[in-house]
This record gives sequence, C-alpha cells and structure tokens, in this order.
Amino acid sequence: PTYSYILTSSPKPGVGLITLNRPKAFNALSSALFKELNDALSKYDEDRDIGSIVITGGEKAFAAGADIKEMAPLTFSSAYSTNFIAPWSHLAKEIRKPVIAAVAGYALGGGCELALMCDIIYCTANATFGQPEIKLGVIPGAGGSQRLTRAVGKSRTMELILTGKNFSGKEAGEWGVASKVIDGGKDELLEAAIQTAETIASYSRVAVIAAKEVVNKSQELSLREGVDFERRLFHGLFGSKDQKIGMSAFAEKQQPQWKNE
Ligand code: HXC
Repeated sequence: PTYSYILTSSPKPGVGLITLNRPKAFNALSSALFKELNDALSKYDEDRDIGSIVITGGEKAFAAGADIKEMAPLTFSSAYSTNFIAPWSHLAKEIRKPVIAAVAGYALGGGCELALMCDIIYCTANATFGQPEIKLGVIPGAGGSQRLTRAVGKSRTMELILTGKNFSGKEAGEWGVASKVIDGGKDELLEAAIQTAETIASYSRVAVIAAKEVVNKSQELSLREGVDFERRLFHGLFGSKDQKIGMSAFAEKQQPQWKNE
C-alpha cells in the first residue's frame, strides 16, 4: 500500500521497519497517521516472512505527540462518542510480534506513550522524552501515566507528569525506560535496533510470540497468577514442532531450522 505519513520497508530478512514520516509536524501523531501505522503493524503481524517490527521516526523527532491542532477543537462529547485515541490501543492489544521503538529526537506526550507501548526501546543519548500534556491543560491519554509508573516508579512519574519536564535518552537508559542508549546518531541507532530485530526474527515465531505474551502478563497479573500462566504456556510449547527442532539441533550440534509450527 502507499502511505502518506509513514514509510515501510524490510531492511533485513524477517524485519519489518516502519518510519513515521511527517517531518514538517515533527511526526505529530494525527488520526490519519495512526490509521496508517495500525494498518502497517497489522500487515507485518500477519506476514509469515516477518518476525519482528521496528518503529522509528526522524533525526529530530520520533514523534512530538498527538496532533495538538487536531485535538484543539474537540469537546468532551465528541471525544467520548468517537472514542478518540482508542485506535492507539491497537499496538499493545493486538500486535503479537515484538515491536522495537528506535527513538531519536523528541518523543513527547503521545510520542513517549507510543514508545512505551513498544516491547523494547532503544534511543540515542540526546533523545528527548517527556509527558508535557499538563502544559496544554490535559494529562497523558495513551497509557503514559500507567506505563511510565511501571517503568520508573511512582515518585519519578508524578514529578515528570506534574511538571511536564523532559528527560534525556541517557536518563531513559539509566532508569530502565530504554534497554539500550546509543552514543551516535539516528543511523547507528537504527542499525542497532534492526540488528536486535533480526536476532529476534531468527528464532521460532511460536516461541517468540509466547515469550512476548508471558512478559506482558507480568504487567497485568499477580506474581502467582503470572508464574502459573508462564508454566501453562511453557508446557504448551512442548506441543510445537519447533521445540523438537530446537532441542534436537542442540544435541546434534547443528543450527535449528525452524518450521514456525
Ligand atoms: C501538532 C506539532 C506538534 C504536535 C510540533 N508540531 N509538535 N503540530 N501537534 N504535537 C508542529 C509545530 O506546530 C510546527 O508547525 C512544526 O511542528 C515545528 O514545530 P516548532 O514548534 O516550530 O519546532 P521547535 O521550536 O523546534 O520545537 C519542537 C517541539 C515543539 C519542542 C517538539 O514543537 C513542541 O513542544 N511540540 C509540542 C509537544 C507536545 O506538547 N506534545 C504533547 C502533545 S499532547 P508549523 O506549521 O508552525 O511549522 C499529547 C497528548 C497525548 O500528545 C494523549 C493521547 C495520545
């Protein structure tokens, strides 16, 4: 498909790359952009040749938030009755393959929330994260108050959301928001993210989806329930062909040839 606000490509076998591409508006996440993003995510999720997905933006902005000009005229009743922002849940709710956010430049408001919805965040040291909604007379609306709290704890989240102050990519790394901080620019960042996506895509699709599912359950369930859930899925994987392939390849000192079954 041809998109207006995003670019899609497959830079390495098994890797689907989505580049947010609305540079004049710092990749502000309009409803039209999000519709395209969701469409591209779904297509990669269904594509048997794709094993993991990278979302990135430009050098200056991953995304500077939801589109403020689109939101400005909204009323309570229009936001409520059209369920404004609901399409933003698609990534976290429906996409089963791992998604890596590669963040350079601004990731503010909804841009920060989009990154937090991804399974892994890589960023440049001088990336700029923040939840500045308070300055606009509103609050985070795409999960920021919940996901940031789980990532960095309550006191720090309160301070960030109540003051609207930004934090750097370096801090994101120190606080565990990002799993890798790249000292270079966007090119080095993207290379690292794609390399990790390629590694993930080289494993059994069945096991990868199960791994993502169990880790995500840790955010929702009690420890007891989460451990039980993990064990059920672990047991379930002995019903996959890839478990036999993976374990016999180990014994035979060979590379497993996954069937993704
Ligand atoms: C619409 C935006 C935008 C946004 C930038 N632009 N961010 N348009 N929505 N979120 C547009 C500007 O209007 C401007 O368009 C162009 O992009 C360049 O921006 P400038 O401000 O001129 O650039 P600069 O001075 O370099 O500042 C960059 C910036 C600043 C620091 C990123 O633009 C900024 O503060 N943006 C808003 C960040 C923000 O508040 N995000 C949270 C949004 S609320 P023109 O046409 O003038 O050239 C949110 C709620 C989420 O995300 C809740 C549910 C999802």
